[in-house]
Amino acid sequence: MKSFEIKTKIYFGDNALDRLAELPYKKVLVITDPFVVESGMIRMITYRLDGSGIQYEIFQDVVPDPPVEKVVLGVKKLTEYKPQAIVAVGGGSAIDSAKAMKEFATKIEDLGEMPLIAIPTTSGTGSEVTSFSIITDSETHIKYPLVSDSLIPAEAILDAELVKSVPPAITADTGMDVLTHALEAYVSTASNEFSNALAEKAIEIVGVFLQRANFDGSDTHARQKMHVASCLAGLAFNSASLGLNHGMAHQLGANFHIPHGRANAILLPHIVQFNSDIDQNSRSRKEYLPSVRKYMHAARILGLNSFNEITTVRALVNWIQFIMKEMDVPFCVSQTGKVTKDEYMSKISSMADAALADACTATNPRVPTKQDVMRIYEEIW
Ligand SMILES: [Fe+2]
Repeated sequence: MKSFEIKTKIYFGDNALDRLAELPYKKVLVITDPFVVESGMIRMITYRLDGSGIQYEIFQDVVPDPPVEKVVLGVKKLTEYKPQAIVAVGGGSAIDSAKAMKEFATKIEDLGEMPLIAIPTTSGTGSEVTSFSIITDSETHIKYPLVSDSLIPAEAILDAELVKSVPPAITADTGMDVLTHALEAYVSTASNEFSNALAEKAIEIVGVFLQRANFDGSDTHARQKMHVASCLAGLAFNSASLGLNHGMAHQLGANFHIPHGRANAILLPHIVQFNSDIDQNSRSRKEYLPSVRKYMHAARILGLNSFNEITTVRALVNWIQFIMKEMDVPFCVSQTGKVTKDEYMSKISSMADAALADACTATNPRVPTKQDVMRIYEEIW
């Protein structure tokens, strides 16, 4: 038996942030990162709360790759302040942090329902609708995905005004994360008709609007579309989970702080080739792996028709590399400048072990061996 449910009420389109003025709470905690506060973006939130007489405090101690220590600080704040709801504003790190803080705080103390309202300021993680929160142990560099339905935000507010000032490089990285979510959910062993529909729409929007949003950040229409695509892809992988791409990318983030979307982008062409095994297919297999057909559909959605399965999947790989080049996304780890070759190579074996143990890898359409994973890590250097 399967089931599908969207637990989050989604507010989107022009003036979606006005939902904040209607919140039925008297006291909320805003959880965000220093950039949102220092850039003044926070005023778009606070003036609406002020206008409705909602009391609030701001916890702005969120950092990228949220470590356990910061989550502990947030838990302390929640148990002291006892808000009726949490408003999380920021990229994936802020929303992931808020999810974990709420989860632990409500386990320690009875704080009532304390619904989470997630307001993304990048179009990428989809965290505003998912049951995932990735927390990092800063000493061991291990990323721990928390997965529980109780982490799913009650509301998501998708207002493109918040993403207008995102610089081109981050638009590209986060947009490639959206594409990776959609493609991984699409070929996942847990994919289903509902998740496929969501993934297909996300792929279509990325195909039309990602480069537009990257080239011209003031293109509000493209920004709105990418903001919705990010959420659609989040809903898709919340149902179908992800795959080896994310399993391997998590290790690049934890060990070398390569931005999450960028790590996914670097891996994506290699993972599509691995999952479809197209080189092997073209030589000896009589039947294609199931993901070949899925990738073909994705390619067709992107307008990449070719005369047979293999060339169509190759066209998809080429298209991914083409948009990465157009948006100046690095093709390999060495181009990120985050790690020396010696250090990178010395960690390949332990990263492969961690990638195989990562919860995302379990639903990859082709079961990888440690050798496969190590080879891909070597290829992407
Ligand atoms: Fe991701």
